[in-house]
Amino acid sequence: MAVFKVLSILLITSHLCDGRRTRGNRADAEFGMKMKMPYEPQSVFRIYSPELDWDDACMVKLYQPHTLQSCGFNSSHPLVIITHGWSMDGMTERWVKKLATALKSTQKDINVLFADWRTLAHQHYPIAAQNTRIVGQDIAQLLIWLEDVIQVPVSKVHLIGYSLGAHIAGFAGSNLAMSGRTLGRITGLDPAGPMFEGMSPTDRLSPDDARFVDAIHTFTQQHMGLSVGIKQPVAHYDFYPNGGSSQPGCQLHVQNLYAHLSQYGLMGFEQNVKCAHERAVHLFIDSLLNKDKQITAYKCSNNEAFNKGACLDCRKNRCNTLGFDIRKVRTSRSKRLYLKTRSLMPYKMYHFQFRIQLFTQIEKIDPSLSITLTGTLGESETLPISLVEEVSGNKTYSFLITLDTDIGDLMMLSISWEDAPLWANMWSKMKTVMLWGSKDKGPQLTIGKIRVKAGETQQKSGFCAQSEGSVSIQPSEQKQFVRCDENPHSSRRVTSRR
Ligand SMILES: *[C@@H]1O[C@H](CO)[C@@H](O)[C@H](O)[C@H]1NC(C)=O
Ligand SMILES: *[C@@H]1O[C@H](CO)[C@@H](O)[C@H](O)[C@H]1NC(C)=O
Repeated sequence: MAVFKVLSILLITSHLCDGRRTRGNRADAEFGMKMKMPYEPQSVFRIYSPELDWDDACMVKLYQPHTLQSCGFNSSHPLVIITHGWSMDGMTERWVKKLATALKSTQKDINVLFADWRTLAHQHYPIAAQNTRIVGQDIAQLLIWLEDVIQVPVSKVHLIGYSLGAHIAGFAGSNLAMSGRTLGRITGLDPAGPMFEGMSPTDRLSPDDARFVDAIHTFTQQHMGLSVGIKQPVAHYDFYPNGGSSQPGCQLHVQNLYAHLSQYGLMGFEQNVKCAHERAVHLFIDSLLNKDKQITAYKCSNNEAFNKGACLDCRKNRCNTLGFDIRKVRTSRSKRLYLKTRSLMPYKMYHFQFRIQLFTQIEKIDPSLSITLTGTLGESETLPISLVEEVSGNKTYSFLITLDTDIGDLMMLSISWEDAPLWANMWSKMKTVMLWGSKDKGPQLTIGKIRVKAGETQQKSGFCAQSEGSVSIQPSEQKQFVRCDENPHSSRRVTSRR
């Protein structure tokens, strides 16, 4: 997909057409000249107010304490600074207000500032990317001043940066570190990839930039060797929802990309790219607004292993909560965490690993099996079982099932074998051939032990056929399995009985 080709052409065009903009080197020269004077930030800091647009919001000005008072800044409250990313149109994106509102409405005693660097962001991408260091320094200077003058501890400050803004937060943190201070927390929301991927930790967001760093990667799909969001881990905990490459409801197809371009121009293209890129922001907002639907994510070596259900383990901080209420456990190495989400808010899904013993006498089959789960709180829809490999011999297969509602503790399963047209066809032929005498029952699977682990509750349970130890299933048949726990330590109910 030529997304980046299109992107670069658009960028170069828009850059050439706009002579007003400062070139990178001129901005740098100006910046250098100003170094001797009291620090003069190029970004603007606006305080959140529910009634006002950002353009009208009260501005906190460096070295001007009266602006803090007039803006209603309360130095005894924690501080969150939201930082936007690259700007194609110089406008403030709507998510900024949504995030600020979510923070303010759920945290109450909190100061929410918006680091507005639109003049530096509304540039050709490489220039905007270079400017992130300047904005990082602006934020560091503001925080040093706030700590020294009105005792807002830097260690209690939380920077939330989207796209290029994530690297800005990183540069703010490393600037503070140079003056012997440690920033509290950085949250990187789909940190930008181009010009940062593969760079040394000092040239991008990294775990060294704050006491605790978390990042959510939502659009790391590669086009021509580049991805909009950075793929590599950059935090203590790096979340990769749905594998991180793209997001449900955001599938980008070349056809509709060009259709969008011709119909809506640049904006249509931008919306399309933004869907998955911006999903990180909305996942974070979700964590603030839906406290009863906190999302758990699980450490895993890669997405393929996660899709087999192999990683739903919470021991030793292997799992964590996505978003604002993450457990801030510092680790020496970045942990990659995986999870599945819905395509709309609330994004939470419930994860189950199934381990199922299958036996077949036919050499290799690829049965289209599906499963329905019944729990203490409800029943799931019928969901397809996707086995990564074909079924042969006598083996245990592992797969992941995700549900978008909480059905409580699992009580019963029903597995069915869809009578795929291919089988039906073949089967009718076989029946004709075998009409005289053969007792062969056609394609058949024997289902042995079924073990289930629920990620969200960490509960393990076993399921057995209602009658014997194992049961056979044929196309267009459905079989029931009921709970039959063998291991007393695996069930919460049994453990709590003492
Ligand atoms: C700051 O907040 C504290 C409580 O959180 C409150 O007692 C105090 O009056 C506030 N200060 C100002 C200037 O609003
Ligand atoms: C499959 O193997 C398991 C042991 O691994 C055994 O208990 C079971 O009887 C075997 N099933 C069949 C149908 O051979």
